[in-house]
Formats: sequence, C-alpha cells, structure tokens
Amino acid sequence: MAGTKPDSRVSLPVSSHKPAPYDGPSRDEVLALRQEYLSPGLLTYYKSPLMIVEGKMQYVWDETGRQYLDGFAGIVTVSVGHCHPKVIEQVQAQVGRLQHTTTIYLNPNIAQYGRKMAEHMPEGSGLKVSYFTNSGSEANEIAILMAREFTKNADVLAVRNGYHGGTQAAMALTAHGNWKFKSSPSANVKHVTPGYCYRCPYGLEYPSCDVKCAHDVEDVIRYETPGEIACFIGEPIQGVGGAVTPPPEYFGIVYEIVRKYGGLCIADEVQTGFGRTGAHFWGFENWNVTPDLVTMAKGIGNGAALGNALTRPEIAAMMKNRVHFNTYGGNPVSMAQGMATLEVIDAENIQQNARDVGGHLKQRLLELQERHPIVGDVRGMGLMLGVELVTDRTSKKPASAQTAEVLELCRERGLLIGKGGLFGNVLRIKPPMCITRDDADFMADCLDVAFGEVSK
Ligand SMILES: Cc1ncc(COP(=O)(O)O)c(C=O)c1O
Repeated sequence: MAGTKPDSRVSLPVSSHKPAPYDGPSRDEVLALRQEYLSPGLLTYYKSPLMIVEGKMQYVWDETGRQYLDGFAGIVTVSVGHCHPKVIEQVQAQVGRLQHTTTIYLNPNIAQYGRKMAEHMPEGSGLKVSYFTNSGSEANEIAILMAREFTKNADVLAVRNGYHGGTQAAMALTAHGNWKFKSSPSANVKHVTPGYCYRCPYGLEYPSCDVKCAHDVEDVIRYETPGEIACFIGEPIQGVGGAVTPPPEYFGIVYEIVRKYGGLCIADEVQTGFGRTGAHFWGFENWNVTPDLVTMAKGIGNGAALGNALTRPEIAAMMKNRVHFNTYGGNPVSMAQGMATLEVIDAENIQQNARDVGGHLKQRLLELQERHPIVGDVRGMGLMLGVELVTDRTSKKPASAQTAEVLELCRERGLLIGKGGLFGNVLRIKPPMCITRDDADFMADCLDVAFGEVSK
C-alpha cells in the first residue's frame, strides 16, 4: 500500500470525530474479492487503491484510522457532508417506518418533496413538475424522452467534452471517446462545440471571437439535422470534462438558436446544482438562461441513489403518452434523504459557504498558477473548481502523467481530489460544501507541494 508521509509543510485540520475501530476484512482481501467477483469495469483511483470505511462531514477514514479530506465528495455527490446528523436522523426514521412502496400508492414523502423542489426553481420559470429517478443517467434518459415526445422530433444536440452518464442514451450524449463503447449507438445525437476558451478549437480569443463556439450550433442544426430538433442538453459547467466554464454569453446564444429550430433546452445540473457554484442555487442561473428541463442527481441527496428530471407541466404531460413505470424512483427513503438534504442546504447556508470558501480557494489556486508553470488554467465557480496542468504553457501539451502523480502526492498527505478532461490532465476539486477555510488552505498547501515535486 502507498506510504503516507508526514509533511511539515501541510497540516490537515483534525476532525473531532473519532472513527470506530475497523474490524472487517483487510484491504487486500477486499481488493481480491472485487477482482474475483465484481465487474472489471469498476475503476479505482491510485496505484494502490484506497479503502474508505467511515465518513463524517468533509472527512473520511481508511481502515487504519487515517483521516483524509474528501476534496472530491465521492465524485461531487456528498453535498452537505458525510453522514450529516440531520440527514441520517430522517433517513433512519424512514427506514424503520416504511422502506419501500412504489408510486402506485400514495405516500407523503414524494408529494411534499416534489413541492419543495418546485419552490427551489426560479420564480416565474414554470419549472415545477418532478420525475424522480435513481441516478443522473436515468434522469437524462427521461428528460430526452419527454423532449422528443413534446417536439415530435428525434435529434438531440449535446456538447463535446460533456458527460451525461453511463446508460445507452446517456453514453450517446457523452462526447468523449474515452467513455464511449465502440458498440454503443448514438443515432440522432449531434455534438456541438463547448465554450472551452483555454483550448478554443478555432484558435480564437474571447471576446474578439464573438463566441463562435455558441454560434456553431446553428450550423450543426442546418447541416446535420432535418432542420428541426428535439432538444439541446448541456452542463452549465462541464464536470467530467474538467470544470470547463463557458464565456457568459455562451448559453444565451445557444438557447436562442435551439428554440428557433423548435428544440427544448435541458440543463444537466447533476454536478452544478444545489448551490455548488456558489453565486446561485442552479448552475444555469449563472448564465441568465432558463431551461425547459432540469436534470439532477448526486448532490441532490447527499449520497442517496436519487435523481430528478424536472420540467414544466405541459412537457411533463408527455409521460402519459404510454405506460411508464419505475420501481424505485420516488421511494420513501430516497425522498426522505433528498428532503433532509435540501433542508440542510437551506438551513446551514451551504450555498453561501460554497461561494465564500470556494472564492478563497480559487484565489489561492490562482496564486499557485503564478508560481508553478505547470498550472495552465484555473477555472470554475464556487466549490466546483478545475486546475488544468500542462507541460508547456505555449504548446499547452497536457501534463497527464504529472496530474496522476499529483493525485498520488496529495493522497499521501491526506487529501483526496479527482481528475478529468479528455487527456486526464485537469484536477477536479469538488469537496462537500461544508468545508472550512482551513480545509481550503490545506488543499492549496498540498497542491503547492505536489506541483513543486512533479515539476522537479
Ligand atoms: C453532468 C453529469 N450528468 C449525468 C451523470 C450521470 O449520473 P449517474 O452516475 O448518477 O448516472 C453524471 C455523473 O457523473 C454527470 O457528471
């Protein structure tokens, strides 16, 4: 197993939580069991995979009792903190009362949670009707289905470098060669240019580029579709793609073109929603646009297998066109967890914290950029930040191997972060939104040391 080196240059804030002694199977046994009995498609991070056995708020512990700061929130999922006491209390109460009933019967949780969801949408948007699912992929499937039924068109536009999930339709939307199986069909999906200024495919610069990437959508519709489309789907900030943050006008231009050709606009808020971008509750609000459908998962339930495809009533009505059934979507336990998470986000100023601590962390990362030539770009909003590493700032050659090494060096010092981007050269920093300024400083200090080491 990778050694854990004490390093006087960084100091992990010590949690007051004491993890229970671990008495389960060893890490090696667990690894062997996974290798023998589980799909080899389940990837792990690190040269020597890490085993996590307990979590409390922004921290997790391995089987030896070693504490880590979870800078990736279980891939952007744990929004208000691991095992947040208020969330756990409501989930435990619900599990003890009624674990499952399908939506063929009434239950208060789904109804009350549906109303609470609607209350969190922008006023006057008409967005109010939820279809609860078990994952983000499934939410995107449902949203695309509704858009196709509503418009009676088949063609869907998605953004290159985006990620929308692992089911067949979601994979088709995803425009990363790495994530596509050669055998998966992507009929009726066309991909448009992202607002990725650091790697502008046209070699232009903002703002003199006149946001050409957004205008490209019109050409794709004219040349590659029958001229009418079902919808456009885009992440307000691309997550897996590496915190790619478009120019402010990008979505306004795209939405206008899409609507001109009869399409609906879907905002995939699976990573950006629930206050993560700090300034706004929803990622799309940063761009002054109002989507027709909003898909959610991950942070929605602080770890629950929960997603949602939310839209206006007239679009939601399309689900009545056929019988459509979902055994687990909307189950009382997920609903209790989603409701409790939303209550905590509201009560504990989680969004404000994402804005304040995220702003501080971004500032620290920008300072690192000044001192470390390997840092090509720092981007993102709130607690959804990305650092793109390059071997050379002029050629922008992706520093993929160094990025993997930075992850290892951070882990040795007690920090877990993610990576993404087509070349695996973007550090992804998306911790639980309850982190403190001290945690943020620890992250920046760790990265400072790691950047120095990989640049030697
Ligand atoms: C933006 C986005 N959409 C959809 C998904 C798919 O969600 P899930 O893994 O819950 O199916 C993800 C997962 O990472 C995502 O990042």
